Amino acid sequence: MQAIVLVGGEGTRLRPLTYGTPKPMVPIMGVPFLARTLERLHHAGIRDVILPAGYMPQAIVDYFGDGSQLGMKITYVIEETPLGTAGALKNVEEHIHGPFFVLNGDVLTSLDLRAMVAEHERLGGIGLLHLIRVEDPSAFGCVVHDEQMRISAFVEKPPRETAPTNEINAGTYLFEREILDMIPAGRNVSIERETFPAVIAAGKGLYSYTTDDYWMDLGKPEQYLAAHNDILAGRMPMLALEPGATGDGAAGLGAATLHLPVHADANVKVAAGAELGPNVVLGDGCSIGARAIVRNSVLWDGVVVEDGAIIEGAIVASGCRIGSEARVLEGSVIGHDTTIERGRVLERGSRVGATAPISR
Ligand code: GDD
Ligand code: MG
Repeated sequence: MQAIVLVGGEGTRLRPLTYGTPKPMVPIMGVPFLARTLERLHHAGIRDVILPAGYMPQAIVDYFGDGSQLGMKITYVIEETPLGTAGALKNVEEHIHGPFFVLNGDVLTSLDLRAMVAEHERLGGIGLLHLIRVEDPSAFGCVVHDEQMRISAFVEKPPRETAPTNEINAGTYLFEREILDMIPAGRNVSIERETFPAVIAAGKGLYSYTTDDYWMDLGKPEQYLAAHNDILAGRMPMLALEPGATGDGAAGLGAATLHLPVHADANVKVAAGAELGPNVVLGDGCSIGARAIVRNSVLWDGVVVEDGAIIEGAIVASGCRIGSEARVLEGSVIGHDTTIERGRVLERGSRVGATAPISR
């Protein structure tokens, strides 16, 4: 079986992080998110992956190459202009030889792909959509189905009051190749707004597969932080949970006061009197000064936090320097290689750093 992972989005809601790193390469516990997704595909026996990309594709190609290091074959198809979530599939038609998975590139889930294949074989039809139940469906695709799991309506991002159900499109599909015949070529096509309604109207047998797996769309900063909290707490199975701090750099945290969970990658340096946690992830080579406090935050690689700085509920991209006594408040997002001057206060929800894609 083949899989297409959609990785062409601009990641607008994660700016300025996505000015330096395309969304699929944003690290989850220190590893690009797409690597986690590819591992999951490999685990399900899938070795042939197609990546329709367009935004900063070079960062993806440079990291994964032809996929041989992962024991996979990766085919990149770069879109000159974004073709949309269905147009991107039509554009790779020549590479698809049979039934195939499609994954939104920004979904973290514990979904068992093999179980999904079995369900598709049981139900038949042109395709199967993974669904999940959420509190507020208005930011997602709402999917209405009958007791035989047959889908009768797909409504993308309805206003909350009019949402017909709280079962939403979780961004993993299994399709027969025939679905490609229903997507027009050569223009932008949304699978959610155009193709699914057309497939339903044509009576092709589109089915749903609702599970209560762990699931998170990583498209926004608060979701990105929540996903880390869930991994640290063991709600999303990814880490081998150990007592104490986790990660290759855990041994280097001895000088700090720790409020678990705390995770540190290799080469992390922490001065005496620093306070870390709860829910802190430190990337490779981070350095934390004396009396600095970091809580509920994810720091990427090589971030320097000087003496007495405070970071709370923030995401800090690689290569940043947070000056001494500076305060970074809840919901702040700091883009690559940004310096926050000594004593500066970043109010809640600040976004600082690059204002356009950084070419490297
Ligand atoms: N190649 C390519 N080309 N990929 C694209 C394009 C494009 O033009 N546009 C978006 N993508 C990719 C994004 O990179 C992402 O991986 C995926 O398609 C979904 O796009 P998002 O922009 O993240 O969509 P969303 O989160 O608002 O909504 C989608 O996901 C929800 C679940 O997370 C929809 O599929 C919803 O129905 C769904 O509920
Ligand atoms: Mg998304």
